Amino acid sequence: MGPLEKTQSVGIVGAGTMGSGIAQLAARAGHRVVLFDVGEGASVSAKKRIEKEQEGLVARGKFTREEAGALVALVAAGDTIGDLAGCGLVIEAIVEDLDVKRRLFAALEDIVSPEALLATNTSSISVTAIARDLKIPQRLAGMHFFNPATIMKLVEVVSGLSTATETAERIFATAEAWGKTAVHAKSTPGFIVNRVARPFYGEALRLCEEQVADPATIDALMKEAAGFRMGPFELMDLIGHDVNHAVNMSVFGAYYQDPRFRPSNLQLELINAGRLGRKSGRGFYEYGEQAVRPMPLSMQAGPDGRPLEGFLPGSTCEVDGVWIGNTDGRTAHRLSAELGRPVILSDLIELQNATRCGFTASADVAPAQIDRFVATLERHEIRATQLPDWPGLVVMRTVAMLANEGFETVLQGVAEEAAVDIAMRLGVNYPRGPIGWAKKIGLDRVLATLDEIHRLTGDPRYRASLALRQAVDDVYTM
Ligand code: NAI
Repeated sequence: MGPLEKTQSVGIVGAGTMGSGIAQLAARAGHRVVLFDVGEGASVSAKKRIEKEQEGLVARGKFTREEAGALVALVAAGDTIGDLAGCGLVIEAIVEDLDVKRRLFAALEDIVSPEALLATNTSSISVTAIARDLKIPQRLAGMHFFNPATIMKLVEVVSGLSTATETAERIFATAEAWGKTAVHAKSTPGFIVNRVARPFYGEALRLCEEQVADPATIDALMKEAAGFRMGPFELMDLIGHDVNHAVNMSVFGAYYQDPRFRPSNLQLELINAGRLGRKSGRGFYEYGEQAVRPMPLSMQAGPDGRPLEGFLPGSTCEVDGVWIGNTDGRTAHRLSAELGRPVILSDLIELQNATRCGFTASADVAPAQIDRFVATLERHEIRATQLPDWPGLVVMRTVAMLANEGFETVLQGVAEEAAVDIAMRLGVNYPRGPIGWAKKIGLDRVLATLDEIHRLTGDPRYRASLALRQAVDDVYTM
C-alpha cells in the first residue's frame, strides 16, 4: 500500500505546536496543505510562524530560499472547515478532548470524500473511541508525531479496533515518504513510547524515595554510565511535573491501577509546592542566574589505592579474596554470604563510553580494597559512585524495568519487538531499544534482577513479564 499521492492535498486541523510542524512536513514532501483552526486568526498566524521558521532554516543553510519559498507557497490558511473538502488526508491536532475530537471528525466526514483518510495526532485518547461514531470508522488511524514534529523521527501509526489494515499501511507509507520512521501500534493507553517510558521516571522517583541516591547522582548515573541524553529528574523538570504527573496518572488509571505504573508522592509534593520544573524556576533543581547545580556523589581513590592489575570495569574477577562482579539483583550482602567472601558489585555500565560507574560493597570489604577498585575505574577514566547495598542498584533496575515494559507491550500484541526498540530510540532518544539492550545484557540477568527485587520488596510492580520469562526459557532450551 503506497503513500498518499503527491497530488493529493493534506488538511491539518489545529494550527498549534503540533499542527504547524506537521503542516511543514507535508508541504516539504510536496503536498498542498490547508490549515484550519477554530481560534480567531490562528491559522493565519500559524502560516506566518511557518514562514519565519523557514527563514530561520534558510539563514542556517538548511534549505535554499527557493525551497523555503516553495514550501510556504504550498501552505494555505483555511477560513472554514469547508476548505478541507478536497483533501485526501486530514490530520487532526486539536485540543486533547474526546468529545471535541469526535465532533470534529463527524463534521469532517460530511465534508471530505468517502475515500479520504482521517488521522488523529492524539497522544493519550483511544483511537477506537475517537472513531466510534464515524460512518466509515475503518478510514481513521492514529498518526502520532513527537514534538517538535519537524525534528523527531518517529511516527506511531495507531490502529483502533475498526481501523482497516489498508488505512494503517497507507498512513505508515505516508509518514515514511515524509522522511519519518513509522512503527505500527495497537490503540492501547500510551501506545508504545508513552507506556514503555514510564519506568524511566517511575524508578528514578522510587529510588529517590527509597533514599538510594539523590536526583543529581541518579541523573549522572543514567547519563554517564548508561548513555541517556538527559537524566530522569532533569527531563521531568523540562517536561514540567504537572504534565509528567498527569501522564503518569492517566496511564496508571488506564491500566486499572497496575502497580507497574504507580505514580509518586514525591512528584506530587513538588506540584503541591508549585515547583513545576524549569517553567516555574524550580523543580528538583533550581533554575535562574544564581542557581547552583548540586554535584553527583562521586568517590576518589585514597593515596594508597593501587589499580587492580588485569581487571576491566564491567568484568568479573577475584582479587585478594574479594569477588568483584556485576549486579544481577542480589545484594552484595547476600552474594557475600553465598560465596563466603567479600563482594563488590558494579551497576550496569555501557562499556564503550561510560564515564561513571555505580557500585556497592558488602560490609566485610576493607576500605583499602574499595580504594583499589575505585583507582581501577579512575585508570579507565570512569568516576565511581558508591551506592547503598540495594537490589538491582540504579541503572540495572531502571533498564530492567524498561525492558520488562517493552516485553509486556509485545506480549499484549501492541507492537512487535523491533517496533518497540525503534520507537524508544527515535521517540525519546534512548541510547538503545530496551529489548535489544536486555538481550545484550543477558535476558537471564535481567530476569534475575526483576525476580530478586520482586522477592525482596514483595511489590507486584516488579513482577517479570511472561514474555521475558518465555524468552529466557527459549534461550535455554534452544
Ligand atoms: P496546541 O494547544 O498547541 O494547539 C491546538 C490547536 O487546536 C489550537 O490552536 C486550538 O485553537 C485548536 N483547536 C482546538 N479545538 C479545535 C477545533 N475543534 N477545531 C479546530 N481547531 C481547534 O496543542 P498541541 O500541543 O499542538 O497538541 C495538539 C494535539 O497533539 C493534542 O491531541 C495533543 O495531545 C497531541 N500531541 C501533542 C504533543 C506535544 O508535545 N505538544 C506531542 C504529540 C501529540
